[in-house]
Amino acid sequence: MDLEQLNDIATQMVAHGKGILAADESTGTIKKRFDTIGAESTEDSRRDWREMLFRTEPAMANHISGVILYDETLRQTAADGTPLAQLISDTGAVPGIKVDMGAKDLAGAPGETITEGLDGLRDRLNEYHALGARFAKWRAVIDMGRKGDDSIPSPYCVDVNMHALARYAALCQEAGIVPIVEPEVLMDGDHTIERCYEVTEYGLKKLYAELYAQGVQLEGTILKPNMIIPGKKCPDQASVEDVADMTVQCLANCVPSAVPGIAFLSGGQSDLEATAHLNAMNAAYDLPWPLTFSYGRALQAAPLKAWNGKDVEAGQKAFNHRARMNGLAAMGEWTPDLEKEG
Ligand code: 13P
Repeated sequence: MDLEQLNDIATQMVAHGKGILAADESTGTIKKRFDTIGAESTEDSRRDWREMLFRTEPAMANHISGVILYDETLRQTAADGTPLAQLISDTGAVPGIKVDMGAKDLAGAPGETITEGLDGLRDRLNEYHALGARFAKWRAVIDMGRKGDDSIPSPYCVDVNMHALARYAALCQEAGIVPIVEPEVLMDGDHTIERCYEVTEYGLKKLYAELYAQGVQLEGTILKPNMIIPGKKCPDQASVEDVADMTVQCLANCVPSAVPGIAFLSGGQSDLEATAHLNAMNAAYDLPWPLTFSYGRALQAAPLKAWNGKDVEAGQKAFNHRARMNGLAAMGEWTPDLEKEG
């Protein structure tokens, strides 16, 4: 493992004012997204949609440091024959790849899941590296159960998921690929913000213990966490400032300063919430790591609607706007007024 090289890539992924575009929806998930605009999901339509995003200027060059791809996309070429990974590198962004095989039922833990995909991962990583990927992503999913019932998540579920994340991370580093470690505490449900804090803290402490135990070099990793936020159905919703304060407090308690950067998932927040929360953290705090975005839905929902299966100009305009807003939020320079420019 060349740690300096891994650290260079990780540092590039969290460059000032830039963040990551998570375009790694599985074939099933992208079909659901296309269904919302009545577009058919075919290999070509998925390619057209993603090619449109990767060709968006100045969003890609100015605000996107890396793109997470799905296996199919890393192997696809643009309509003119250029590999999509090449299109991304040409903008100055780093191509990356989702390598987990999804969350499956966890034996002996009804309602909980374990993320699979470790079998054969070494070979897949070597192939992905040859195809141009320089970072990877693995998402552990922590379900929150119901308010007042602390039996979910079980420590068993969190522990095995963090163990798997560390196994994945070690294999990535061996292959010269920066692992994004993503332990996602879901927003679904009616849990309080305090419960989200408690579970996220437990998960992150376990995660960093596992990474240490398995020899993962933190300088060559990126953390992709959830924000500390109440469940969508919780009657007590939190202010932007509370989410920012509690998220920063939780991260400061759990994440070593050797980590080159933290890039949040949006997890079902609205576009504006995801931008406002990120901005509030960067505006109010001076932290040991850059805080930026690695958004899927919060970057793509508006462009998808504007594109509507065919309108490239409208899609790119919407993507330019959202990417710029989040780029500003990554520097603590966003204000709600700027949204009118979209
Ligand atoms: P969201 O921002 O839509 O949560 O997606 C990010 C991601 O990559 C989830 O794994």
